Amino acid sequence: MRESRFTLLDLFAGCGGMTRGFLGEGNFIGVGAVEIDRTAAATYAANFDVDGRHIFAGDIAGYTDVPRADLVVGGPPCQGFSALGRRDPADARNQLWREFVRVVRESDARMFVFENVDRFAKTPEFQLLRQTASEDGELADFDTQVFRLNAADYGTPQKRIRTIVVGSRVGPVDEPRQTHAKTPGGDLDRWVGLREAFLEGPVVLEPEVRETWLPESLVEFQGHDIPGTFKLRDLHITRNYDLISEVRYAHIAPGKGRFDLPDELQYPCWRRHTRGAGDVLGRLQWDEPAVTIRTEFFRPEKGRFLHPQWENGGDQVNRALTHAEAAVVQGFDDRHLWCGTKAEIARQIGNAVPPPLARAVAHVVAARLAS
Ligand SMILES: C[S@@+](CC[C@H](N)C(=O)[O-])C[C@H]1O[C@@H](n2cnc3c(N)ncnc32)[C@H](O)[C@@H]1O
Repeated sequence: MRESRFTLLDLFAGCGGMTRGFLGEGNFIGVGAVEIDRTAAATYAANFDVDGRHIFAGDIAGYTDVPRADLVVGGPPCQGFSALGRRDPADARNQLWREFVRVVRESDARMFVFENVDRFAKTPEFQLLRQTASEDGELADFDTQVFRLNAADYGTPQKRIRTIVVGSRVGPVDEPRQTHAKTPGGDLDRWVGLREAFLEGPVVLEPEVRETWLPESLVEFQGHDIPGTFKLRDLHITRNYDLISEVRYAHIAPGKGRFDLPDELQYPCWRRHTRGAGDVLGRLQWDEPAVTIRTEFFRPEKGRFLHPQWENGGDQVNRALTHAEAAVVQGFDDRHLWCGTKAEIARQIGNAVPPPLARAVAHVVAARLAS
């Protein structure tokens, strides 16, 4: 294999989870990124583009100065595709993949990696993307491969299944090699659980947290003052919960959820719904990976986001994950810096591609580009 570095263009870059994984592989160099959300773009810049020169902080439709790149990666917003979204085919966000195709063409890329939610593979947009890369399409010289990958299989402490479409003009890639499994064996380690991730990593995230505010600090990004730059430890902050919420959380053991609340503690609106949404008010488990983290992980009412520490009548932590814990669940380490308010950073974390998953894809892509 030739020793070379490949140029990378990251579209819908968010806080840069995808770029973090690709740069971690060592053979890639970022030459461009596009992100409409200014604070996410500031986070990206703080990590990968300190001069703010190669990030285009705007709508991809206005991105015309496209550099040449070996590889274009990107994951447009998933709300239009996700089972949780409205699944409206007319949703303008579903058209964003067309912009992706345009940039792939204009950059003269040899390969592309398109990332999205699991159910993307069942949408009309997925069919269109594949048609685009078929005989008469705009990307006719590309062949596509589709992988359905679980971030937990690549050492991320989270079960998060993603559809990855790899397009190539230079031949196929191997399936990214799994390093971890639910049941270990051979050269596969056991999935990373939360105990290992929070308590045995380079930054220990103590269960006991009192701080609720980010430090007061501003950073200038393209003429705007933005909260930041924050380190992982700065994000280990909680919220002020009301007493009744804490009483509810105290009833929920690891692996359990709102169905385990006594009747008098059920929310009135829930009483009528005795089925579905079993993850609501769910508590995570110390020795399992987390479930899929979303942008509102800090609200226990939105999913299985309660901290795993719970002993019956004993030591209990009755709060949702902190931002730092959620970032670690997404596979970020303490090298990654963050910009934005608490809600903005939560969105960046929840939207990211786990860097370890991106890195596994980067490995097979780099091998093909180098061949
Ligand atoms: C799923 S997130 C991508 C996460 C990113 N790949 C990562 O690994 O961190 C999608 C991103 O697309 C951005 N976005 C949405 N519409 C856009 C547009 N029209 N132009 C550029 N970026 C857009 C959103 O702000 C969001 O950060």
